[in-house]
Amino acid sequence: MSLFDALAPQSLDPIMAGFQEFAADRRPDKINLGIGMYYDEDGRIPVLDVVQRAEARVAPRVASWDYLQPDGLPALRQAAKRLVFGEADTDRIATVQSLGGTGALKLGADVIRRLAPDATVAMSDPTWGNHPAIFGGAGLRVTRYPYFDPATGGADWPAMRDAVAAMTPGTVLLLHACCHNPTGADLPDEAWEELAGLIEARQLVPFLDMAYAGFADGLEQDSRPARTLAQRSQPLFVATSFSKSFALYGERVGALSVVARDARQADLVRDQIKVAIRTNYSTPPSHGALLVAEVLGDPELSAAWRAELEAMRQRIRRMRQGLVARLEGNNARNFGRLVEQRGLFSYSGLGAPQMTRLKEEFGIYGVSDGRLCMAALTERTLDRVAEGIRAVA
Ligand code: LMR
Repeated sequence: MSLFDALAPQSLDPIMAGFQEFAADRRPDKINLGIGMYYDEDGRIPVLDVVQRAEARVAPRVASWDYLQPDGLPALRQAAKRLVFGEADTDRIATVQSLGGTGALKLGADVIRRLAPDATVAMSDPTWGNHPAIFGGAGLRVTRYPYFDPATGGADWPAMRDAVAAMTPGTVLLLHACCHNPTGADLPDEAWEELAGLIEARQLVPFLDMAYAGFADGLEQDSRPARTLAQRSQPLFVATSFSKSFALYGERVGALSVVARDARQADLVRDQIKVAIRTNYSTPPSHGALLVAEVLGDPELSAAWRAELEAMRQRIRRMRQGLVARLEGNNARNFGRLVEQRGLFSYSGLGAPQMTRLKEEFGIYGVSDGRLCMAALTERTLDRVAEGIRAVA
């Protein structure tokens, strides 16, 4: 029997499987509210203005495309660290460049698996479909803690708090810093201080997924969970991504930061991450990192980027309001929650059969769990999407 004789078809997670199906759909008016990407008002995934300006500056300077060091471009690492943690006490933080946010999660998972092979990773119920696959695939045990309250469309902080308070020391606690994926329901601001105290008391290892920083309340506010945890806890892992905030999806630029006790320990942690990098993909790609570092390293470009990011955030809010306005009063279901939820996604409350109908009858793709990407709505598609949702709800 050969290696491949027993193979059965293998499907990807619903988000990526839907992305493939959408690409193959020949209907010209199809609408992609599945995978998380930001679209502009013209229905295009934009190349940000600051990215074009950075490209014009960077391109003439490139003398060769030699290897980066395994931990990536120094200017990118510094900028990514400063963005998350500000100026405070950063010597004890090891930051490496990663292949987007997913790559940062995988590096962290590999390091944890090497240092604590029996560790359990607790993640929210529900969570991003790739989370259990990444941590489980790295060989770690995965469990869930309660998170979402379908009755309110918000986070169930009391239930989560009770679960966290009962966790075994050493448990890795995977958290969404903001724009919870898939629900759009974040913890109340005041919960983070209490959560940080619980994590410290229970000696848990927090792992913050920050892929959507900038899209909830703005960059500074969205960094607060990381800064609050960093003051109280170490180790702390933070995965950041520039895929969404720079619309650089295909460039795969992100960073993993690990907060250690002091600078010496941070260096030892960095060595561990470098081994994970070298044995996964050796060194990261340069181009996207050069663009992000150029923007973040230049006060004028950096200010322009913040303005573009803020405009994206505001546009998503308008789309949420526009959708809810069109859905209100038309049926018994309460869609008002979509306005309060934050970031790219919302849990619509629609079930798998309804999502299938949306796709088949209306050409509107979401995720089978009812997740819809609000950042992909436009003024031109709002009416059609509302009509589809009304019909299937
Ligand atoms: C999503 O949740 O749609 C994004 O994080 C993209 C992805 O890789 O799944």
